[in-house]
Amino acid sequence: MRVRNLTISYSGEPVLEGASLDVDEGRFVSLVGPSGSGKSSLLRALIGLQKPLAGSIKTGLSRSEIGILFQDDALLPWKTARDNVALGLTLNGTTRRAALDEAETWLDRLGLGGLGDRFPRKLSGGQRKRVALAQVLVMKPRLILMDEPFASLDAIVRARIVRDVVALVEREKISVLLVTHDLEEAISLSDAVYLLSQGPRAHVTQHYAVPIPRPRDPVRARMHPAFAPLYEKLWSDLSREVDYPRAVAA
Ligand SMILES: Nc1ncnc2c1ncn2[C@@H]1O[C@H](COP(=O)(O)OP(=O)(O)O)[C@@H](O)[C@H]1O
Ligand SMILES: [Mg+2]
Repeated sequence: MRVRNLTISYSGEPVLEGASLDVDEGRFVSLVGPSGSGKSSLLRALIGLQKPLAGSIKTGLSRSEIGILFQDDALLPWKTARDNVALGLTLNGTTRRAALDEAETWLDRLGLGGLGDRFPRKLSGGQRKRVALAQVLVMKPRLILMDEPFASLDAIVRARIVRDVVALVEREKISVLLVTHDLEEAISLSDAVYLLSQGPRAHVTQHYAVPIPRPRDPVRARMHPAFAPLYEKLWSDLSREVDYPRAVAA
């Protein structure tokens, strides 16, 4: 995916101005920026929910090859976990039988075997997140866009689901763009990290390669010798962005 000079504005006020980034095939890329810098706006533009004022987005993918995983899942409360996962396939013309079988396979892979008949309200936050992830993966996406998808989960559940996500996208060679304000998460999961300056008129200021080998365990990645120096560098660059007085920027 190539994003070039993307400008997004709300009622004439530019939120993002001239943001550019690349997600090469099979790469896990994070975009880190302070709250309000326009991360969610950028992702909405990538899936066509937000019309940019200027700039270009090229993916070479059809809409059905792009999966989205946002903080709030979009599970239908009146459908079982299995039906929720099967829904996208049936909408695409897969027979109900085949869709349910495929849904079951993904529920199993995500550790939810036996929970297919449950309705979303009878699932924990972590289980719901896994169903949402199965919903995305069942469609065989080539690219997944994530907007702070793990933010609402507690630490242990989060660590486990993040580990599974990394293993799955590595195995299936899926490209990922994750937007987050969590530097540790960004470094431990990614091949590359982009830094977004503080808005208004936020733009991508820096690009960092993460020299930690794959396959990767995200918890172990934090103990890799390359982690601390990179964290330090990103932290100081990000702090500079956040502290930068708006009066000077304007
Ligand atoms: N639909 C909207 N209408 C007007 N302003 C918006 C809208 N969505 C977001 N904004 C504003 O745009 C800025 C960036 O928001 P957002 O993209 O959600 O940032 P982030 O995800 O980085 O926290 C914020 O100042 C926010 O208030
Ligand atoms: Mg956001």
